[in-house]
Amino acid sequence: ISTGGKTNKLSNVIKCKAAVAWEPNKPVVIEEIEVAPPQDGEVRIKIVATSVCHSDLYHLFENIHKDGFPVVLGHEAAGIVESVGPGVTEFQPGDKVIPLFLSQCKECRFCKHPKTNVCEKSWSEIRIDAMSPLDSRFTCKGKKVYQFSGTSTFSEYTVVRQINLTKIDPAAPLDKVCLLSCGICTGYGAAVNTAEVKEGSTCAVFGLGAVGLAAVMGCKNAGAKRIIAVDTNPDKFEKAKVFGANEFVNPKDHDKPISQVLSEMTNGGVDYSLECVGNVEVMRSALESTVQGWGVSVIVGWNMHEFSGQPIKLITGRTWKGALFGGFKSKDGVPEMVKAYMNKKLMVDEFITHNLTLDQINDAIEMMKHGKCIRTVLNVSPQ
Ligand SMILES: NC(=O)c1ccc[n+]([C@@H]2O[C@H](COP(=O)([O-])OP(=O)(O)OC[C@H]3O[C@@H](n4cnc5c(N)ncnc54)[C@H](O)[C@@H]3O)[C@@H](O)[C@H]2O)c1
Ligand SMILES: [Zn+2]
Ligand SMILES: [Zn+2]
Repeated sequence: ISTGGKTNKLSNVIKCKAAVAWEPNKPVVIEEIEVAPPQDGEVRIKIVATSVCHSDLYHLFENIHKDGFPVVLGHEAAGIVESVGPGVTEFQPGDKVIPLFLSQCKECRFCKHPKTNVCEKSWSEIRIDAMSPLDSRFTCKGKKVYQFSGTSTFSEYTVVRQINLTKIDPAAPLDKVCLLSCGICTGYGAAVNTAEVKEGSTCAVFGLGAVGLAAVMGCKNAGAKRIIAVDTNPDKFEKAKVFGANEFVNPKDHDKPISQVLSEMTNGGVDYSLECVGNVEVMRSALESTVQGWGVSVIVGWNMHEFSGQPIKLITGRTWKGALFGGFKSKDGVPEMVKAYMNKKLMVDEFITHNLTLDQINDAIEMMKHGKCIRTVLNVSPQ
């Protein structure tokens, strides 16, 4: 298999290496794929670094909808613009960029509205179950291969719409800031933008993957006094301390419901809770762990199943919310988060537990599946 991407000068098609998921529940396969040139409003980028997020695993193993295959997964990445399609003025070859699974077109009524970041032109508005837009620039062995979440970063090259891309500080290390493409912004923003955590408050974060740990960091930066980290894997508590958690609860250590445990610890419940697991039972527990009157619970974890709860929990003054990409308007928010990292106002390096190459992607997937990593960065091409 060729590496580094070979361009056929006549057709301008790039042949390069990518990890193709041919079907659900199987390891992905490193294949040579063809990446067509960018069309109107599209940009072709060379991926420098990408990391595995649980939403990739969700599509591969957990999704009840089994369409959207074959597909190139991956949506957390950073890279360099290779070429631009007609009508693209905002980007030029050589620009350092971060792909955005959530678009920001700046024209639709949602983009223009200050209260939401969910752009009308996002794939998630159209085909959320398959998590893949219908249009793709990938071919492998003569077959059309879907693009995942409008990005597909487990590839040396990918094509994204310009509304799914943002330019960042060229000095930023791409093998670090790739994490700002999804997980860190998602968790951090859920705390500061969506929950709007206030100084002196008590928070509980359920699930301590990168998303949950970033939520812990958000609570800490917002001035929360007590940050209770909840996970069934106690190996995660050491890391949670680094980001600012000061109390730890393993639901497996208790016979009673976790909401009761938290309620007893906090005189009636926490002010804010964040569900960063992706489990409908945990979503309910997170809501029930908040205090009546003003408790706010934010759903961050990804799940297509139905959930349940008692209306009385809301009637008595709790608020149940959700957030996609931490409420950040993506194109505007990500460069700001990169800036915060460069100015040492935001931790990023601390999330990276492993560095591997694209060829080792199945190892990265297995580690996440078994709770053995926080984030594995796959180095795809030299910066
Ligand atoms: N809303 C969004 O925009 C968005 C974006 C990215 C990721 N996500 C979702 O966020 C979730 C977390 O992603 P991640 O990459 O951090 O995943 P991860 O797999 O690294 O972390 C999940 C954590 O949850 C813990 N956990 C499992 N069951 C638990 C339980 N019953 N109680 C408490 N903790 C439990 C695991 O031990 C693990 O530490 C996933 O559902 C992912 O799909 C949502
Ligand atoms: Zn993600
Ligand atoms: Zn829009």
